[in-house]
Amino acid sequence: MLKTNIAVLGAQWGDEGKGKIVDMLTPQFAVVARYQGGHNAGHTVYVNGRKFVLHLIPSGILHPGVTCIIGNGVVVDPQALFKEVDELAGMDIAVEGRLLVSEKAHVILPYHRELDVLSEARRGERKIGTTSRGIGPAYEDKIGRRGIRICDLLGDRQALAQEVRENVHARNQIIRDSTLDWKPVFDELVAQGERLRPWAADVSLVLHQAMADGRNVLFEGAQATLLDIDHGTYPFVTSSNASIGGVCTGLGVPPRAISGVLGVAKAYTTRVGEGPLPTELSGQLAERLREGGQEYGASTGRPRRCGWYDAVVVRYSARVNGLDAIALTKLDVLDGLPEIRICTGYRIASGAVVTEFPADLRVLASAEPVYETLPGWSSPTKGITEYDRLPAAARHYIRRLEETSGADCAIISTGSDRADTIVKPGSIVSQWFAQSPAQPRA
Ligand code: IMP
Repeated sequence: MLKTNIAVLGAQWGDEGKGKIVDMLTPQFAVVARYQGGHNAGHTVYVNGRKFVLHLIPSGILHPGVTCIIGNGVVVDPQALFKEVDELAGMDIAVEGRLLVSEKAHVILPYHRELDVLSEARRGERKIGTTSRGIGPAYEDKIGRRGIRICDLLGDRQALAQEVRENVHARNQIIRDSTLDWKPVFDELVAQGERLRPWAADVSLVLHQAMADGRNVLFEGAQATLLDIDHGTYPFVTSSNASIGGVCTGLGVPPRAISGVLGVAKAYTTRVGEGPLPTELSGQLAERLREGGQEYGASTGRPRRCGWYDAVVVRYSARVNGLDAIALTKLDVLDGLPEIRICTGYRIASGAVVTEFPADLRVLASAEPVYETLPGWSSPTKGITEYDRLPAAARHYIRRLEETSGADCAIISTGSDRADTIVKPGSIVSQWFAQSPAQPRA
């Protein structure tokens, strides 16, 4: 069957390198659509040596003619969006006419950031380690049915004034001794609405029409499965559905619109923020991965926690998302290590070894990873573009990783540039590409 609309999402705890994978796949697509999260995401893409960091706008924007969509499942901070648009314009990348934002997307209000910081402070030692972008509080207002949507900024001013008044009043009750005035918040939202107006759209309809016209859509995930509000390491998660279900709810498309799912996984594991990370390393080895992989948050600059590849995690992601294949990134970071480990199970407190990801974080916190140790490779993989040219030990590592994770590595990334990529011959991704017709552009 011809695969046309592909979802690309994180199979670990985020920062797997989805930006690069989306960027390299984009020539096969006419539309790239984000379905959840907000500007907590940071997608770093290198093109001809130039570094682009995108937070809200899909990385497809770097390809002329591609339509980029921000879905209703995304929470939008207009200020952050305008900053990104202006930065892209400064790099000669025009977004006008190519960027659409769902009129149903919820707005991150200026004080959501403040509430995020406050909520973290109140949690004390149990803090989540959020990106302090106001993501959680914006989704809280959405689920609490008091959120403000982009269409509210564009419609009746009196109705908006009433909503803002009520929201600011609710906020003033949460923050002790606070008397924030609703009017400046309202004025700012009205001004933001005017700039947003040309981009606001019924993106569900736009997507349905694009698909009916035979235009391929790439559904771009942010964060990742283990950060998903339902399927991640709750409560140490983000506040949206980063896994596959989010595509349907976050864009208004039916499940059958998704014809393939590609999970992005790093050749080791990282996480930012708090919460369990069973294969976490410390000392020199952690430092070696952190420096080698430049493991610092693209949004916050925070050093990422690093560990060995956890096949329990990726196998779980493969199940939850129905992964057709894995895009394995940063293989080159492991170059030169004498030996490499893959976690295949967890020994829990009772002494039993479990191979399915536990729901209870207390079980996970006390879990000891069970490792398989493989030989490393001394000749570099960096920049290699053909599978057969990888050192034998690297191919062996990939094979074991596939066997233990239950999915084929169809793409292998061997460096940060677009060109440093292997598409494994005969893999499902090479089949998608072979069958994909030329894409009409906007
Ligand atoms: P929030 O999304 O800012 O509420 O943060 C919740 C958790 O998700 C924290 O552990 C963050 O570090 C993590 N997180 C949010 N966005 C990203 C991302 O893009 N990459 C990796 N971790 C993220």
